[in-house]
Amino acid sequence: MKKLIAAGTFLTSLCVSSAAFAADCKTDVKKDDLTDEQIVALYDCIKSELREGYASQGGALTSEYTGWKAAATQPAAPGVHGKRFLMTFVNDTGFDEYVKFSEERGPMPVGTVIAKESFNLSKKGQVRKGPLFFMTKAAAGGESDKYGNWVYAAFSAKGKPMKIKQSFCHDCHSAYEDQDALGYPVEDYRVSSN
Ligand code: HEC
Repeated sequence: MKKLIAAGTFLTSLCVSSAAFAADCKTDVKKDDLTDEQIVALYDCIKSELREGYASQGGALTSEYTGWKAAATQPAAPGVHGKRFLMTFVNDTGFDEYVKFSEERGPMPVGTVIAKESFNLSKKGQVRKGPLFFMTKAAAGGESDKYGNWVYAAFSAKGKPMKIKQSFCHDCHSAYEDQDALGYPVEDYRVSSN
């Protein structure tokens, strides 16, 4: 059974997923033309499979983050991170501070962990699972001093730790220097902080 999300027509059929393949979540709408509702429908279709994949290697963070609060009202594709759709979650230590989305902030509390799910659309409109990204705020006095005391990590859609360079992530994130290297979700989709 296919889930085809046509312009204006929503089939509410459940997605069928097999172990090896991505859930059959599809759209015939071009990525840039998707409405918010259509993006949410695609996310709802892929979500459980995406999360199962991330958690499948037994990593603690890769399953814990689903219990954290979302910092965005829905996924959006700001153009960075491989132009994927991104959905951000923050643990209790950092949530209240993060959702101020302050443009001039001091450092986030040590122990803050921010997770970001990602997915994309193929040219044929098939949903593709993307990596799960993390930023963890470490105490000063270690290797992370070079990277604003952030430790960056990424896990593949299969839950495997990806070999990433801290400098690769931070070189771009450091552009947001006044925001403690945080890019924040697209403005229209930020949760309200009150
Ligand atoms: C080309 C620039 C760029 C690179 C490279 C990059 N990021 Fe980001 N990242 C951003 C932007 C911009 C945002 C905010 C956009 C959004 O989440 O909608 C962001 C958001 C995030 C967030 C959510 C916290 C926040 O900034 O608000 C995490 C976690 C994250 N990135 C992790 C990583 C990791 C891990 C890497 C390296 C594997 C990485 N990023 C590489 C630009 C980048």
